[in-house]
Amino acid sequence: MKTFGLGLVLVAIFLNASPGNGAETGNSTRDFMRQKLGYTQGVLEGITLEKYELIITNATLLRNMSQTNAFYVLKNAEYLQRITNFQSSVDALSQAARAGNQDRAAGAYSRVMQSCIECHKYFRRDQFVKRHSATP
Ligand code: HEC
Repeated sequence: MKTFGLGLVLVAIFLNASPGNGAETGNSTRDFMRQKLGYTQGVLEGITLEKYELIITNATLLRNMSQTNAFYVLKNAEYLQRITNFQSSVDALSQAARAGNQDRAAGAYSRVMQSCIECHKYFRRDQFVKRHSATP
């Protein structure tokens, strides 16, 4: 798992370089990941209030973010598959927002949520268990 450690270091470097990231201690990857919640909230607000620009902005942030994840950097095949599904669902969401189609955006939003859950079911637990068994 040496390479995975390297990936985390890369993400940590990226985080330190990005502005407005505060001075949190603790798990920076996790903090980084938690931003996804903020973006999905922005998307939901955009859909319900028909603020299509808000949907596009937050969907773009979500999509960019998925490319900086440690697993992506490491080209783990299973992870790549899930991230691809995630990205295409985010793309569908952006397209619906650009078309100003609320119903289609709502449908795409639920598929984005499904891909969050799908990847988490598979990876999140795995990673959590690893981390907690690694620290004495
Ligand atoms: C392709 C896989 C993948 C997708 C898609 C994905 N995540 Fe994650 N997510 C992860 C992994 C792996 C972690 C664990 C990172 C860590 O703890 O270092 C994580 C961590 C998180 C965390 C932090 C959890 C904690 O313990 O605090 C949140 C919150 C989160 N994700 C939300 C989301 C949301 C919301 C979406 C959809 C918009 C999403 N994720 C989509 C893989 C994914």
